[in-house]
Amino acid sequence: MTVKIAVMGTGMVGRAIAVRLAQLGHDVVIGTRDPQQTLARTSPEDSRTECYAEWQRGQPSMRLVSLPEAGAHGELVVNATLGASSLEAFQSVGSTKLAGKIILDLALPLDRSGTSPRLLFALTDSLGEQIQRSFPEARVVKTLCTVSAKVMIEPGRVPGRHSMFVAGDDKGAKQAVTQLLTELGWPAQEVIDVGGIEAARGLEMYAPLLFALAGALGTWDLNIAVVRAAA
Ligand SMILES: NC(=O)c1ccc[n+]([C@@H]2O[C@H](COP(=O)([O-])OP(=O)(O)OC[C@H]3O[C@@H](n4cnc5c(N)ncnc54)[C@H](OP(=O)(O)O)[C@@H]3O)[C@@H](O)[C@H]2O)c1
Repeated sequence: MTVKIAVMGTGMVGRAIAVRLAQLGHDVVIGTRDPQQTLARTSPEDSRTECYAEWQRGQPSMRLVSLPEAGAHGELVVNATLGASSLEAFQSVGSTKLAGKIILDLALPLDRSGTSPRLLFALTDSLGEQIQRSFPEARVVKTLCTVSAKVMIEPGRVPGRHSMFVAGDDKGAKQAVTQLLTELGWPAQEVIDVGGIEAARGLEMYAPLLFALAGALGTWDLNIAVVRAAA
């Protein structure tokens, strides 16, 4: 079934997930603060990507729209914005447009100003919860933030069985997100529902270990596999 999806975010994650979801047949737009300004950028935002206009030339059918337009388009909204600015991004969309919609939140609330990124808050709060509190009529599901952008959309890059998590207060939203995850290649039996949106804390707090593992192993093509005793 074709889903109208708004991917908020023009960085490497937003681009990767938007292309993959469009390939899967979904009706996808990418949201940015100012489309003209984003298209006019002549240098990349960071060393991992080319500038947006250059990338867009290879993706001629991908539509770049403002955040409010993207919010109006999407039945399901993917949060691939800078975590420190995600609330600001959603505030510009407005709570009316987000009411009843699923927000697939994969962002990490990172301070990237130092030599290595660190979480802006943890333990007693999470970005997932902040988005849910700020937009109580939206249905927030935290997922995908425990792997790299490439693994998000191509879990087969990591051999063997490995795990993905969903956290959120709305069961129907978690089912819809799990369906999307299976389309991306995540086997349904490897998607673990870890509970309400409060469980987003654990998913976000895994980030420092993910960064350490990528540094230690020299690759981002990695993930954790939850091993359990037979019930
Ligand atoms: N890279 C990975 O492998 C990975 C893995 C797990 C999770 N994540 C998370 O995925 C998210 C996206 O990561 P990324 O590396 O693709 O991009 P990013 O550099 O973290 O974020 C880029 C996006 O954030 C938006 N943004 C920046 N400041 C803003 C503000 N003040 N108000 C509204 N929007 C603002 C930008 O908007 P404009 O388009 O308007 O410039 C752009 O679309 C992040 O939260 C990151 O932590 C990344």
